[in-house]
Amino acid sequence: MKTVGVIGAGQMGAGIAQVSAQAGYRVLLSDMDVARAEAGKAGIVKQLARAVEKEKIAQADMDAALANIECVGGTQAFAPCDLVIEAATERESVKRQIFESVGKVLGDTAILASNTSSIPITRLAQASPDPARFMGVHFFNPVPVMGLIELIRGLATSDATVAAVETFGQSLNKRIVHANDAPGFIVNRVLMPMLNEACFALGEGVATIPDIDAACQLGLNHPMGPFTLADFIGLDTCLEITRVLFEGTGDPKFRPAPLLVKYVEAGWYGRKTKRGFYDYNGAEPVPTR
Ligand code: CAA
Repeated sequence: MKTVGVIGAGQMGAGIAQVSAQAGYRVLLSDMDVARAEAGKAGIVKQLARAVEKEKIAQADMDAALANIECVGGTQAFAPCDLVIEAATERESVKRQIFESVGKVLGDTAILASNTSSIPITRLAQASPDPARFMGVHFFNPVPVMGLIELIRGLATSDATVAAVETFGQSLNKRIVHANDAPGFIVNRVLMPMLNEACFALGEGVATIPDIDAACQLGLNHPMGPFTLADFIGLDTCLEITRVLFEGTGDPKFRPAPLLVKYVEAGWYGRKTKRGFYDYNGAEPVPTR
């Protein structure tokens, strides 16, 4: 595998492009237009420059990684790709459209993968040219820091596809875990109920936002408390995944907490809108309740 296409130059796509380029792959990074792809690459430049400053990598490594990344608009340029990873908006209609359009230019052996955190892989595969060469490859945010990739095979995914993507993931120095195509896969199946439960606890007045965060951070040795993490992921994303768990299993234990729904209805999505369980407009985050 030599050439990797990444569709979507947001936080996840840029992270995937960065680690792939650092591992020596030629990367084609695309978004709706070249300007958006270039904006994603500008973020990668910043990340790598910081790593050089901290003496984590040499300037020559940064230059080599950046030289590996070519920004393109749309999906026409993806014909030479051995693997294409879609990391676009978490909306099924958007992803299906992308698979249909990139499917027209991909070679006969190229693999198409989705970084979806919750949409069933078997269903998405139906929009790809060959479901045997389609699977889920789920990275975690921030991609350069997080050491895990979940691989999810759909009903029709071939063993050869899984083996090729596993080899690719290992070459990025990530631990690979395999999950079945079940709602939330592994990490979100376990994580989202915890974040949702923190919202129930807050709504029921068990404790304050900072105390629930401190309790989980210090009492469980987690890097972030549940509200800080939910704001980091995005409350809209957390609610969306929780709904997938609830609807996909039919189990009431996954029902979304009313307070989480309220925050999303208010447009308080977390860091990306500068307000979620904390307000990020000042120098320090301030709890919103
Ligand atoms: N991109 C790249 N590197 C980053 C980064 C980013 N956005 N944010 C932080 N880092 C790096 C820093 O440069 C630093 O690197 P060095 O150790 O080499 O200097 C390191 O991470 C630690 O950063 P900080 O000291 O600034 O801050 P921290 O110790 O609080 O760590 C954190 C920040 C890595 C984000 C940490 O808080 C953490 O691991 N949080 C939990 C993240 C998590 O759970 N992510 C998964 C979310 S779920 C998901 O992604 C999937 C889904 O489907 C929803």
